[in-house]
Amino acid sequence: MKHSHIVGLGSYLPERVMTNHDLERMVDTSDTWIRERTGIERRHIIAEDQCTSDMAAEAARRALDDAGLDISAVDALMVATTTPDKIFPATATIVQAKLGGHGFPAWDIQAVCSGFVYGLAQADAMIRAGLFRRVLLVGAEAMSRIVDWSDRSTCVLFGDGAGAVLLEGRAQPGGVLGSVLHADGSYRDLLKADHPHPPASPDRKALDFGRDAAGIAAIEMRGNEVFRVAVTKLGEVVNEILQQHQLRKEDVDWLVPHQANIRIIQATAKKLGLSMDRVAQTVREHGNTSSASVPMALDALYRAGRLRQGQLLLLEAFAGGFAWGANLVRWSKQGETG
Ligand code: ACO
Repeated sequence: MKHSHIVGLGSYLPERVMTNHDLERMVDTSDTWIRERTGIERRHIIAEDQCTSDMAAEAARRALDDAGLDISAVDALMVATTTPDKIFPATATIVQAKLGGHGFPAWDIQAVCSGFVYGLAQADAMIRAGLFRRVLLVGAEAMSRIVDWSDRSTCVLFGDGAGAVLLEGRAQPGGVLGSVLHADGSYRDLLKADHPHPPASPDRKALDFGRDAAGIAAIEMRGNEVFRVAVTKLGEVVNEILQQHQLRKEDVDWLVPHQANIRIIQATAKKLGLSMDRVAQTVREHGNTSSASVPMALDALYRAGRLRQGQLLLLEAFAGGFAWGANLVRWSKQGETG
């Protein structure tokens, strides 16, 4: 059986930076409130002429460069996104074309902020099963396109960006050790982005529906309730995955959490008994970039030269749905940068 090793990493952030002070001029908020409640100071915002697939393609190019490979070496491409360029075709097929790839399968994953964690589980299972040798997995989001910029309770939280990893099946043990995934749709109304217009039916013309997937929905969140469930479920899932692999909390070298709120991250680190200097933290600079946040946080650790072969990494995320999960990775990549 093959094991899935991460052999390339890359990320992309749009040029435009929006600070908390910029937001103070847009809604009734303050830099102090945002920093104290969320840990966020700034976020990147996609340019008007860019879309999710542009960011995804750039992050993917960087991951391929990092692995010293080009698109012809890829056997499958998955893009985790909540903000697809279009309802269809899948953003992954658009990214494939932008990268100059042909023929191999390409599809999207929708598990909101848990998209990358879900995608890593899928990619790993397919590599283990011998379906593919190399899988390019991207998390990419233009969250600014589905934010209600007049709603202070949500617009201060999100940012745009993309992160990518190239996975390769190898006989040597290590890489992705396993994953645990969960969802509970009874919580679906606590965090959502509805279409503002009901879907068309044969009896009803819904003229605006489906013209352009990005920009037709707005995030609604009951933040306080999401916060409470997130802290509980993330605490449970990190224990569950460690137990499954007969590992202890002390065995974890790095926590790579979804970057939604520094207080949620601190709560999970505390439950693991990990000090914050063993936790990937990008929420201050990126805000919540949904499915892009875990791969971008992982890439930031890697680029800073913090990761060593043999270290144990615990990735986790919590999302609308609710959908949540975790992956364990034994770091095996050679040639740390930084
Ligand atoms: N600026 C100033 N005041 C604000 C702002 C703001 N931007 N937003 C809300 N407030 C006010 C509220 O109106 C409220 O005022 P009140 O007490 O007069 O009613 C007060 O601040 C407290 O509001 P809460 O919502 O209770 O604040 P809380 O401490 O819960 O923080 C937050 C809000 C940051 C949203 C937090 O609840 C959170 O992080 N929730 C979880 C988010 C998350 O993890 N989402 C999952 C992933 S996202 C995805 O899947 C797409």
